Parts: sequence; C-alpha cells; structure tokens
Amino acid sequence: MTQLPGLLDTEAIRKDFPVLDRLVHDGKKLVYLDNAATSQKPRQVLDALSEYYERYNANVHRGVHVLAEEATALYEGARDKVAEFVNAPSRDEVIFTKNASESLNLVANMLGWADEPYRVDHETEIVITEMEHHSNIVPWQLLAQRTGAKLKWFGLTDDGRLDLSNIDEIITEKTKIVSFVLVSNILGTVNPVEAIVRRAQEVGALVCIDASQAAPHMPLDVQALQADFVAFTGHKMCGPTGIGVLWGRQELLEDLPPFLGGGEMIETVSMHSSTYAPAPHKFEAGTPPIAQAVGLGAAIDYLNSIGMDKILAHEHALTEYAVKRLAEVPDLRIIGPTTAEDRGAAISFTLGDIHPHDVGQVLDEQGIAVRVGHHCARPVCLRYGIPATTRASFYLYSTPAEIDALVDGLEHVRNFFG
Ligand code: ALA
Repeated sequence: MTQLPGLLDTEAIRKDFPVLDRLVHDGKKLVYLDNAATSQKPRQVLDALSEYYERYNANVHRGVHVLAEEATALYEGARDKVAEFVNAPSRDEVIFTKNASESLNLVANMLGWADEPYRVDHETEIVITEMEHHSNIVPWQLLAQRTGAKLKWFGLTDDGRLDLSNIDEIITEKTKIVSFVLVSNILGTVNPVEAIVRRAQEVGALVCIDASQAAPHMPLDVQALQADFVAFTGHKMCGPTGIGVLWGRQELLEDLPPFLGGGEMIETVSMHSSTYAPAPHKFEAGTPPIAQAVGLGAAIDYLNSIGMDKILAHEHALTEYAVKRLAEVPDLRIIGPTTAEDRGAAISFTLGDIHPHDVGQVLDEQGIAVRVGHHCARPVCLRYGIPATTRASFYLYSTPAEIDALVDGLEHVRNFFG
C-alpha cells in the first residue's frame, strides 16, 4: 500500500463513515471521489441528527417548555461551535442559512437594499472573478441588473490562477464590493486573499469570500482573512445538507438591512411597520434549520477531533500524489494548477477528446464516483475552450489506493474508447 508522509490514519477514519463500505454495480468497492460536490457523513453526525429528533425536537426561541429550551440551547450551541471554528470575534456574527448560495445571495441583497455608505447603485461597481461558482456570479448579476451597478471581474491565467496584473483598474474608487472564492471548486486554485483584500481596503470596498471549498479542508480564520463576509456550507464538511453559514463583521450586520422578513427576526411589529431583532436573528426569518445546525455542530466536533491542520496536510499529500499519477495518463490535461502548490484537493481534467460524461460513466461502472460537467462554473470552461471536465476531489478519508484506482479506471476508459 502506498504510504505518503502526512497521511491520516484513514483505516480508522473510514470506520466512522458507513457509506464508504458500500458496494456498487454488482459488488464493486465504492471509490468516492466527489467530495467537492458533497462530503460523506460520519456516524457521529448521523447519531447527533437522530438523537436530536428522538429526544429534543421542538421549535427554537419560542417555547417555554423543556424541549423548546433544550432545542434552543442545542441550536445556539451549534452557533458557538461555528464561531469558534472560524475564529469569529463574536457568536452574533454567525448567521445560519440553508447553504452557501443563500449566504451569498443574502450579502448581495443586503447591499442592494442598504443606505449609504454601503448601497450598491448605478454609480458603483461590483467585482468578482472568472473562476466563481454560479452562486457567486448570479446574485451579483441580479444585483447589477436591479441597481444599474457595473459588474467587473478578474480574468484567469493559462495555468488556472487569477490574473491580478490589472488589479488597480479592476478594483477602483467606485468598487463597493469584491466577492471571490478562496478555493476554486473546479480549478482547485487557492487564491491570494491578502493582495485582493489590501487593494479593496485601499479603496474602501467591502470584501466577501466564498469559503465553501476551504472551510472543510483547512483551518479558517475570518479575522486573519480580514474579509467583511465569509460564506460556506455544511454539507461539504461532514455536516448535513440544508445548513449554510454567513459570517459578517458585527458593525456591518448591525447597519445592514434584513433580506427576508418573518417570524423571529423582529423586535416589534405593527400593521404599519416593524423593528428588527439584533443580528444574527435579524437575518434568520422563520423556523431555522435546527437539526441541520446541530448536525453541523457535530461535524465541527468531528473535524476538530482530527485537526484541520492534519486534514490539510493529508489532502496536500494526496494532491501531490494525484497530480504525479495523473501526469502518467496519456492525453490527460489538468485544467487548473498542475502542481500541488497553492491548490486544493479538487482536480479537474480532460482526457483526449473523450467527453467527460463518457469518462464519468465508464468510471462509475468501475465503482469510481467523480463529478462531470461544468461544475456550476461554466465561465471557466468557456475560458479554457472545453465543454466540461471530469473532476476528482478528495477528503480526509481518501487514500492513495483510491487515486491508483482512478488512474487504472482512466486507463480502462482510454481502452474502452480506443
Ligand atoms: N458546488 C458543488 C460542486 O462543485 C456542488 O460540485
């Protein structure tokens, strides 16, 4: 068995993930390499979810009975865990949403409805990048259409990195918000946050970071990032679906208006007007995703018990191994950085002129789960002149043997298509 320095004890870790024992397609071992789409869930998270429903289920912040108080304590306890996980200065800066898309839409709508100095209008500019997931493109397009603001973006270099050569022309005195991804879901690129934040701060623009592919894989410190907003989702980091996070700086959350109105986000309501609860509740209208937040809290406990530094080192070792092994496959072209430097553990590639959907299907027949398509980042495919990619993505339970299986599987794909 291939041993690499820095690997976690995957034999022990895999015992926590029941689904990884599944056999598919008439007894083939599952090789799950679609972790950038969603991660698998450890027993500890599954148990926390069923325990919540078996023992505590009630609505939060509303009841005086035992279950309501316990459910509220669990829900708010999950907020504490998230705050600590991202080193937030205050738990009140953690807003629960349903996913990262909702978190990013929330930021765009806050700024669209805001008063000066935050308001985005026809005299201002919004900056994103060409490697964004659609969830960090479409909300800004919608905002630009609604307000007349100009949408600008950083382009990409041939090797899959942000082209910051014209940073002073892209981010200007007119820029109100710069929103960009920390780790690309399609290219795997880890972006240079510091340079972008420095320029944004020079012109007084706000910074929003999509950390969906970072939070599961590396230590995340919102204070060190110096951003104003950071969005991520629970289901990619061992948590359930239906729970996302928006972290925002407290003074901004106090000043900015809510987006969704409803129960529990108010202070008082009359038939003429309403006043709002303080953040984070101002931004959590209606019954929140309670069990999902509890599940995310359990996922954070689980990741902490292993250590985010160790998870990062494990994935780095796997990525180094994967780029080396994939280079042995004839006609394989990695779309994105071709070394493990400043890249995450999602690797997109094309294989000659075999369509990625065919690659994915033949791999699936061998039990190997990858994602194919444009990965909700279609502008990246347009930029590199390809219809789609095949993407393999690793996590804390992935092994070198699974990378070997992928490489063998790709050999089989090549033989299959002659
Ligand atoms: N954003 C997820 C992915 O990249 C769904 O696959």
